[in-house]
Amino acid sequence: MPDEPITTFDGVAGSFSKYDTTLRGHVRYQVVRRNLTPYLGKAPLKVLDVGGGSGPDAAWLVSLGHQVTIVEISKEQRLYAERRFNFFLRPEERALITMVEGELSSLPAPAASFDVVLCHGVAMYQPAPRKFIAEVISWAKPGGLVSLLEKGYYGAEARAIYKQDFEQLESLHASQKIINNLGLRVHAFTPDALETIIEMTGAKIEQWSGVRVITDRLPMRVADMSKPALETVIEAEYSQGNNSGIRAQGQMLHFIIRR
Ligand SMILES: C[S@@+](CC[C@H](N)C(=O)[O-])C[C@H]1O[C@@H](n2cnc3c(N)ncnc32)[C@H](O)[C@@H]1O
Repeated sequence: MPDEPITTFDGVAGSFSKYDTTLRGHVRYQVVRRNLTPYLGKAPLKVLDVGGGSGPDAAWLVSLGHQVTIVEISKEQRLYAERRFNFFLRPEERALITMVEGELSSLPAPAASFDVVLCHGVAMYQPAPRKFIAEVISWAKPGGLVSLLEKGYYGAEARAIYKQDFEQLESLHASQKIINNLGLRVHAFTPDALETIIEMTGAKIEQWSGVRVITDRLPMRVADMSKPALETVIEAEYSQGNNSGIRAQGQMLHFIIRR
């Protein structure tokens, strides 16, 4: 059987660039950063952002003084990232970012050379996601950190049941795949499946959390909410996402891994 093509974001980069202005997107970025912050060491760390997209995490990390290499396959996403960096970052922060066009195999740096590797919402689009996750982990130094954020199976199942979307449910049960809000086909992972994939590489799981456990269905935009209301939502999402009784329900699952 021929390999499925890789899903790139050319064509949907415009929609995705507005994602962090929605409550759903904002919750995702804020909760992931809050989970990750206690594990980040002192700046400057050498960070690889695999499928860094329009650069929201890279912009955050360079503002903390870290050096970030983004490897990104979509030209449109890279253009959105450049716009973001030109608009929001100071020249000395922009100088900390290296943008590489293509896939992991396009990277000039030797493997196992990064202190931190981010893979946020990328493995779920790959034709062979398990192999891809193992490859991502191999780019961290021994003892280095990997932050993996992928679609959660039980969150996807709960959403399909709520919407009475039988086609999505059947696809999920038969092939662990669904069509996401961008209209792209993605793989959804149970926590057990991710644990097995990670542990088979010899890496250790530091913690895992659910992301967007409660507010998946709220349609608000960040700009329409007061600061205290927004803080209440983030706090609730952070604590429920780290509650072992409910975290598996997250729309996304966030694994922090030590190589
Ligand atoms: C859902 S977006 C996430 C972007 C960013 N990580 C974030 O969290 O905002 C997924 C990104 O991964 C990129 N991508 C998909 N497969 C890739 C691959 N094999 N190598 C590099 N980038 C890839 C897509 O083009 C897209 O920009």
